[in-house]
Amino acid sequence: MTADISLIRSSFAAVQPHSSQVTEYFYDHLFTHNPGVRPLFAAHLDEQRDRLWAALGALVANLENTDTLTGMLQNLGRRHAGYGALAEHYPAVGTSLIAALRHCAGDAWTPAVEESWTAVYGVISSTMVAAGEAAQS
Ligand code: HEM
Repeated sequence: MTADISLIRSSFAAVQPHSSQVTEYFYDHLFTHNPGVRPLFAAHLDEQRDRLWAALGALVANLENTDTLTGMLQNLGRRHAGYGALAEHYPAVGTSLIAALRHCAGDAWTPAVEESWTAVYGVISSTMVAAGEAAQS
């Protein structure tokens, strides 16, 4: 991973006070650019927003704990296969997540921060997709 974990943590801390703005922006962005994924989600996203944020926080807290991180991502990936999330959806979700973080982080967002989040999302998505596909085969 070419991610700088301290940059991930400092940028996540910068958006933490605005978490509901981040998740709102994220879902708006995702559904505007990928209307086809909207039906996979429940009509009301209130709880879902909090769960997404809590999961991201847990992942950010465990970036150095490779075994814990991998186990969390595999479980998440297996559950997502059950929600109908496909490999092809993951890049779109990553784009929307990074757009939301960038929008809300203000001056805390730099090219190095973006590069680190892109690298971390690559690990998140590849681990989730592999576990989801293994669960379905
Ligand atoms: C950074 C990657 C992701 C994280 C951290 C994440 C996190 C979560 C969490 C915490 C939940 C709540 C249920 C649970 O814990 O199993 C959830 C549900 C869900 N996620 Fe994700 N997710 C990610 C990527 C994706 C992707 C790529 C899709 C594809 C469209 C997706 C679609 C869904 C759907 C459809 C639900 C169920 C929502 C509902 O019941 O309304 N997620 N996600």
